Amino acid sequence: MSITTQKISRLKGERPIVAVTAYDAAMAHYADAAGVDLILVGDSVGTTQLGFDTTVPVTLDMMLHHAAAVARAKPDALVVADIPFALAHDDFSSILNASRRLMQEGGAQAVKLEGGVLLAPTVERLVAAGIPVLGHIGLLPQQFHQLGGYRKFGRTDLEKDILLKDAQALEEAGCFAIIAEMMDGTLAGTIAAEIGIPLIGIGSGPHCDGQILVCNDLLGMNAGYVPSFVKQYAQIGEQAQAAFAAYAEEVRNRKFPS
Ligand code: KIV
Repeated sequence: MSITTQKISRLKGERPIVAVTAYDAAMAHYADAAGVDLILVGDSVGTTQLGFDTTVPVTLDMMLHHAAAVARAKPDALVVADIPFALAHDDFSSILNASRRLMQEGGAQAVKLEGGVLLAPTVERLVAAGIPVLGHIGLLPQQFHQLGGYRKFGRTDLEKDILLKDAQALEEAGCFAIIAEMMDGTLAGTIAAEIGIPLIGIGSGPHCDGQILVCNDLLGMNAGYVPSFVKQYAQIGEQAQAAFAAYAEEVRNRKFPS
């Protein structure tokens, strides 16, 4: 049975929510067959699939292309698509239009916006327009050039206060859940206990209401940097390279085709 945003919200307190990213129909199929609850077509597609160094170059057209591929797998999991770089800070009609396109053309059932208190009024208007929103606080990868790198958030009293207010504002604005990226683990637990919607963590410790990982990281399909919090459940990259090498060897030695 298809998973709705309401079901994701209701899972809080019942059991941990399982979320992963996927960027095409094949990966969405395998993740869905494994029973994940939520598939995020993240703008991490830029770094994992498209060869960019950050998520900043990812455009709405790229997101539409990948969201539609995931939706074509017809997963039971809820499909959420990212609003790409800086668009969430554009005027409301642009954000509404981007969200509408991600749902109508991309087949997503919800959108994700990076940002807290500042974006709460936008979230409220999107939700009123029938667009379910997944919030995203803590490390905001779209701010890479502003931050000068990736780091843990919520270790100072000031940041703790800001992040709690971000989460509360997003809940009040109508988000059905919030991603907490690279947040201090104790703080993530405190915020999860404070709010009534699920806090889904990535690099934010075990006290969240669920976890999300980038599929390339968990599958061992990441030739570059792998964050220290990631657990790799497979080494698909190494297996793929070995298979390519075996194929090359057999073609060169006229063993394949036999
Ligand atoms: O784009 C993405 O994959 C994300 C996850 C890291 C949560 O935002």
